[in-house]
Amino acid sequence: MNPRGGFNTKLGFILAAAGSAVGLGNIWKFPIEVSEGGGAAFLLMYLFFCFILCFPVIVSEIAIGRKSNRNAIGSFQKLGFKKWSFIGKMGVLTGILILSFYSVVAGWVLGYVFEMIRGNFQIYESFYEYTNNVKYIMLYSFLFMFVTAFIVSKGIADGIEKASKILMPSLIFLMIILIIYALTLPNSLDGIKFYLIPDFSQINLNVAGSALGQAFFSLSLGMGMLITYGSYIDKDNNIVKSAALITLADVGIAFLAGLVIFPFIFSKGLAVEGGPGLIFTTLPQIFESLGETTGVLVGSTFFILLTFAALTSTVSLLEVPVSYVVDEYKISRKLSVWIIAFFIFILGIPSLLSHGEFLFFKNFITYLGSTKPVDFMSFIIHVSNDTLLPLGGFLITIFAAYIWKKENLLEEISIGNNNFKNSFVAKYISFSISFICPLILGSLFLITFLEKFFGISFI
Ligand code: PHE
Repeated sequence: MNPRGGFNTKLGFILAAAGSAVGLGNIWKFPIEVSEGGGAAFLLMYLFFCFILCFPVIVSEIAIGRKSNRNAIGSFQKLGFKKWSFIGKMGVLTGILILSFYSVVAGWVLGYVFEMIRGNFQIYESFYEYTNNVKYIMLYSFLFMFVTAFIVSKGIADGIEKASKILMPSLIFLMIILIIYALTLPNSLDGIKFYLIPDFSQINLNVAGSALGQAFFSLSLGMGMLITYGSYIDKDNNIVKSAALITLADVGIAFLAGLVIFPFIFSKGLAVEGGPGLIFTTLPQIFESLGETTGVLVGSTFFILLTFAALTSTVSLLEVPVSYVVDEYKISRKLSVWIIAFFIFILGIPSLLSHGEFLFFKNFITYLGSTKPVDFMSFIIHVSNDTLLPLGGFLITIFAAYIWKKENLLEEISIGNNNFKNSFVAKYISFSISFICPLILGSLFLITFLEKFFGISFI
């Protein structure tokens, strides 16, 4: 048995990686992005990025992890390219930033479980006051971080794998029920049209940049999560198949979330607008219209499942820095986990204070070329999700194709996958990792970065 620990089963790895991918990104953030990106046009680009562009990056991350058997930073060193471990360092930093705000939103979700149990559907009218209730939210995000740390402290098979094997099917089941209900509402079809019939005039580089950022965030890509999880799998694992299943699970759940939200927004005649409140303000209204008892039941179950979906993601986010510290500094897993989790919790406090009276964090920064200040949490989201993840993805493809070399990449992928080398998928991965991915990822990263932070427009 490997002293670093590892997944016991292939399914365990797939579920843990899919569990990492499926989270608040799919159910909270995806519908917001679709609204802000103009509906179906955004969805199309998102699907394109996930299946065509991100797939080779997923496969490369897993291969780098499995080959090196090390954490996100150590893996580059182990493969013989110490200088390139800065990619891993950037990844660890990104993971820490993401977890710091993610645990705050997860705290909102956890609090909603109790609000739904109390039958407090009216909360949609006072969502912003709710997020402003600092003591309450801090308690919940602390609790959330605590459970995350507890699971990660148990290690891979007993903690992460076991926890991931629970609840994904129930989440899907419940969402399907909600979709069926949403579709029976008057005017729900308008929502479906907005979501599924693209208006191509909405497509521009800005929207493409957001779709790419969302695809990376949702697939947990570009920050070494899959390098880390990949380092815990065996050689008989079929990387291509695992990657396909992870992508399908992730895209599938995001797609379902849209099918719940948009029919409902249109049937209630609400304006399609973005903003972090979307699921927190629209869903309680669906639950309310179900009647008291059913509403409480469905509402609380939904937010419990969302809490669990978020939990498998925070677990993977925490595992990235923990794995690094455990591998490289020989500090015990337990101690590393608690110290890092506490540090990240503290780092999350400014995000927690971003939505209310604390004007310093609410109007934290105004980017060049803009007049509207951005709150602290959005700033962290822009830096980590929209900037660092695509940049990380770009660098990983450059590394895999030209530094480690694509022959070595393909060799590693073919282990556990006998017919791989002559397959179409191998040719596709080889071509796209060398040309398509670096080109599109690199340019979209640059365009979004310049546009977002410096107001330099390319449209
Ligand atoms: N993919 C997760 C989600 O969609 C978030 C995440 C990003 C998790 C990066 C790990 C790493 O909620």
